[in-house]
Amino acid sequence: MKHWHIEQIAWDSFDPGKVEPEVVPLVKAAAMVERNGDDYAAYLKSVFHDDPDFQAAADNWAVEENQHGDALGRWAMLADPSFNYMESFARYRAGYKIDVKADASIRGSRTGELIARCMVETGTSSYYTALGEASDEPVLKQICRLIAADEYRHFKLFYDHMKRYLGREKLSFPRRLRVALGRVGETEDDELAFAFHCSNDPPGVAYEHARCSAGYMGRAMGYYRQHHIERSMGMIFKAIGLEPRGRMSDLAARGAWRLLCWRREKFRQQLAREAQPIYARAA
Ligand SMILES: [Fe+2]
Ligand SMILES: [Fe+2]
Repeated sequence: MKHWHIEQIAWDSFDPGKVEPEVVPLVKAAAMVERNGDDYAAYLKSVFHDDPDFQAAADNWAVEENQHGDALGRWAMLADPSFNYMESFARYRAGYKIDVKADASIRGSRTGELIARCMVETGTSSYYTALGEASDEPVLKQICRLIAADEYRHFKLFYDHMKRYLGREKLSFPRRLRVALGRVGETEDDELAFAFHCSNDPPGVAYEHARCSAGYMGRAMGYYRQHHIERSMGMIFKAIGLEPRGRMSDLAARGAWRLLCWRREKFRQQLAREAQPIYARAA
């Protein structure tokens, strides 16, 4: 059911001269999170235990997310032959666990769970679009384009199921908004920061949330442009039941762009302060 296969990627076109060094740690970390799709699918199937249609969709979704991890991991090993994708992923999996046997969504309702999934797919869709547009390396460009298209389809998938549950559960607008904002706020939690640690820190360096979060976010936020945020805001508005295009969406996008620039600067300052002593200690 996959829309593309990893062997379709033009791996022979890899051009080491066009690899931007700052993108490599991001690709390594993203590979970890993507490859963890199986656990999230198990959680979703547990929450939606009496919905075989959604369970089948979650299985297909996980196959695609795993492939995202494998493609990014393979590219990262070309860019940095010292990187061991599966070894790093084993560290990630051992240290980052989600409750795969939950009998109810951590979002409080199934509609809420699906809105949270829409937020994640909005984030990944815009992130890979931004990364692909910024990259000159042809293989990474192709991978990002393929992944971004999958992530947009995933958004639509979760959105359609969300509409179905919204009809039943009638989740109020403030509660939908709270779930959406809550999930966006979680971007700075451990999932990405710990992935950055497992895939980039040399052995023996302890996990520090603030340092690893800055390592990931300080770099990642540099790839976004305002049009990516405008598109994301349209998707967020759609997921919570507001008009995706219009004055309100434009205003929110402008505010989000300002917030992103401010956070990016904070992370970069932290990165500049901490990078030197940490790696000096590890040597
Ligand atoms: Fe993905
Ligand atoms: Fe996805």
